[in-house]
Amino acid sequence: MFSLKAVVIFQILFFISTNGICYSSNISLPEEQYLFDFTKSDNVENWQEQSDTVRDVGMSKAVFVLHQNTAYRRAIFFALLNPQLNGAGFAGVRAIKTYNLTGHTKLQIQCRGQGQYNGFKMVLRHKGLNDEPNYSFEQYFQGPKDEFAVRNLPFSEFKAYYRGKRVNNNETLDISQITSIGIQMYGGVYQPIKQKGPATLEIDWIRAV
Ligand SMILES: *[C@@H]1O[C@H](CO)[C@@H](O)[C@H](O)[C@H]1NC(C)=O
Ligand SMILES: *[C@@H]1O[C@H](CO)[C@@H](O)[C@H](O)[C@H]1NC(C)=O
Ligand SMILES: *[C@@H]1O[C@H](CO)[C@@H](O)[C@H](O)[C@H]1NC(C)=O
Ligand SMILES: *[C@@H]1O[C@H](CO)[C@@H](O)[C@H](O)[C@H]1NC(C)=O
Repeated sequence: MFSLKAVVIFQILFFISTNGICYSSNISLPEEQYLFDFTKSDNVENWQEQSDTVRDVGMSKAVFVLHQNTAYRRAIFFALLNPQLNGAGFAGVRAIKTYNLTGHTKLQIQCRGQGQYNGFKMVLRHKGLNDEPNYSFEQYFQGPKDEFAVRNLPFSEFKAYYRGKRVNNNETLDISQITSIGIQMYGGVYQPIKQKGPATLEIDWIRAV
């Protein structure tokens, strides 16, 4: 696509621009697409809780709030997972919103996790199939501890799940029609590590690159 020289120039410009010295460049880049940028104007109005409350033992809770002062602005996901021996249960929030992410290869989330456990899941749905019995497409990630950092979630690694269990099917995520995006703290019923108790994930932004 680019000549070697152009790529080198591109890298230099990119290096310069990410260091805040210079923002002008006339080389066209594949643009990032922000799904949510809580550091700017996005708020948490579109997000609703989706936790394990459909079951009697489901007593987990999640809330998603904007955190703002004069110096910064971000969103915080608070979760409390009701302890269960087998790790059943989840606490999450999601936004029903349509995105066409064609041309991008992954999601990035800039965040920090604090709490006893730091395992989270990004949950995507597509084509308006936003509820069961349709599958969700999920990917696990560890919230960075202590410092904010970017976690990369390649679209190819979002796999089909049904009620937290991996399903064997050949349906792949259609990134041209993403219609629901969610974040969960999971109990880990099908995972080696079981999680319980309180956790937080502070989020600056979620974008596709
Ligand atoms: C890129 O920008 C430089 C300086 O701003 C200009 O001299 C040059 O002609 C531009 N190149 C293209 C391909 O637009
Ligand atoms: C998504 O965007 C691509 C590239 O712009 C376009 O070709 C495609 O038709 C769009 N798909 C939908 C479902 O909007
Ligand atoms: C989605 O769920 C509906 C029932 O609500 C079902 O009829 C449909 O076949 C499902 N679609 C897919 C692609 O699984
Ligand atoms: C997916 O599997 C179904 C049933 O096994 C089959 O009919 C369909 O052609 C497959 N689709 C793809 C894209 O492989």
